[in-house]
Amino acid sequence: MCGIVAYKGYKNCYPILLNGLHRLEYRGYDSAGVACLTKHGKLSITKKSGKVKHLEQLLKNKDIIQDCRGSGIAHTRWATHGKPNQINSHPHKDQSGDIVLVHNGIIENYDPIKKFLQSKKVKFKSETDTEVLVQLIGYFFQNVKLDFQQSVRAALQRVDGAYGIVVLNKKSPDMMIAARKGSPLVLGIKDKEFFVGSDISPIVKHTQNIIYLEDAQMAIIDGNDYKITSIDKDVSLPKKVEKIDYKIDDYDKGKFKFFMHKEIHEQIETINNTIKGRVNKDGILLQGLFKYWPAIKRADKIFITACGTSWHAGLIGKNLIERFAEVPVHVEYASEFRYNKTLVDNNSVVIAISQSGETADTLAAIHKANEAGAITVGICNVPGSSVSRETNCGVFTRCGHEVGVASTKAFTAQITVLYLLALKLGRSRNLLTKNSVKAHLDYKNAIKKVKLVLRKELDIKKIALKYKNASDFLYLGRGLNFPVALEGALKLKEISYIHAEGYPAAEMKHGPIALVDEDMPNVFIVPKDKTYDKIISNIEEIKSRKGKIIIITDSRDKILKNLANDLILIPKTNHYMFVVLATIVLQLFAYYIAVSKKINVDQPRNLAKSVTVE
Ligand code: M6R
Repeated sequence: MCGIVAYKGYKNCYPILLNGLHRLEYRGYDSAGVACLTKHGKLSITKKSGKVKHLEQLLKNKDIIQDCRGSGIAHTRWATHGKPNQINSHPHKDQSGDIVLVHNGIIENYDPIKKFLQSKKVKFKSETDTEVLVQLIGYFFQNVKLDFQQSVRAALQRVDGAYGIVVLNKKSPDMMIAARKGSPLVLGIKDKEFFVGSDISPIVKHTQNIIYLEDAQMAIIDGNDYKITSIDKDVSLPKKVEKIDYKIDDYDKGKFKFFMHKEIHEQIETINNTIKGRVNKDGILLQGLFKYWPAIKRADKIFITACGTSWHAGLIGKNLIERFAEVPVHVEYASEFRYNKTLVDNNSVVIAISQSGETADTLAAIHKANEAGAITVGICNVPGSSVSRETNCGVFTRCGHEVGVASTKAFTAQITVLYLLALKLGRSRNLLTKNSVKAHLDYKNAIKKVKLVLRKELDIKKIALKYKNASDFLYLGRGLNFPVALEGALKLKEISYIHAEGYPAAEMKHGPIALVDEDMPNVFIVPKDKTYDKIISNIEEIKSRKGKIIIITDSRDKILKNLANDLILIPKTNHYMFVVLATIVLQLFAYYIAVSKKINVDQPRNLAKSVTVE
């Protein structure tokens, strides 16, 4: 989703900002823009719909790159209000053309403010809520004659909604102002240089000294100095500079054409990294939960909240925790959790799962749980992210930067953490013996099996290509594999734009079976477990309606072979590992269908990696 990078210092800002925009591309966007204060005291704004490389091309042609005075702001836009075109892209300026702003988030009361400004003869150029904010700042600066800082403050005090903003004013060329409410913003400091980012990805290359702006805070950079204040009052607050130990490797696809493909293959290491150091002869160590463990292990109800793929991981977590630790678990989409009457109180444990750690709904759910006095536990992939900072405690999935918009390695790492957590809870509640925990955690063997599945890639590709022209798919699984079916269907939808639905296999009779005909592929996930015979009946039901059957299984039974149009055999393993292996098959299956349609699977249309608005 929208991304911000800004620079204030003595260097030419363009290379820094363009590099930052590339770093932000993974979030998903449809246009990009940059504004820079020139040596001649002007503001130069360049915007383009499409990719950052198109903006770069435009800048080269304009030959304005050399004209920079040292301050600039840049943005990748994911359209919310108004079409994804050049006019609506950021930065936006006020009517006088003196003030320029980039914004992440949504200004909810933009309509009455726009009407008020129009009554004062302010003319609008774009359809965006963002332009309303910069025009309001301009109104306070030009009409009410407040100074720059007061104008920003006055405008922000009048807007509702979420924002992370950076503002420049050519009449106050030494100043840059950043502020946030709802949307995250990070300030990077290096001697006489300052960097602002919507996350650390465009900043870490330059400095590891970071201030995570807190909600409703402003950073005012003036010359070589800066202060942090609240939006309400111009009183300096403590500067909480953190030294972060987080490197983002140069984006490198290695031998792969797409990051998604690389990330699917990285699961051998990422699952290993997520477990490594957390399992020893005495059991499972989850250091990040240490302080809160006595309360967590006594919980008599657990809530899990998340969005998208992370929510699917939550469903698997529910199954594992209920199975091993016998604690009831309620899983709820974060977007529902934040508004529903949820029975969370100060005896509750609320687990929030998020790859990016910046998903707006998940953060709102965490705030709600924190306010209710619950213990909040984050399962998150990005150190320093809002989820990792706003939960009481947590466990990191250690899979490194996930670039592909479609989550792959983060999902298997999330279920790995949930597996560790469920086993640790089971052991702490005396429901599992030391030896049974040990037996579950033969992960070296498990990793070997991931390798074996990845070796089947060409077979999976062949099968995927047979079905690439289908317009609808059903994914069916039971128990732990129902969320796998949901995740398989989501992967296909996201990157191939084919309609797909996941269902519990037996539920299919209650409606979706009406869709089945000879053109419809049905992907069954079939472990040899207690529901095996039942799921065979479900397959028969589809078969007798001529549906195409694709089976992913660890069983060599002839029955399955006879029922399947295509069958992918995965190695025998435990329940948890079956889930991981079946997921990897489905990731590859979706990947090859999408690639055959020449889709950029790393940045599929309309999607954002990190959904930072409600
Ligand atoms: O960063 P998060 O895990 O909080 O993101 C949640 C969803 O937006 C995310 O999983 C989304 O569904 C992905 N595109 C899935 O591939």
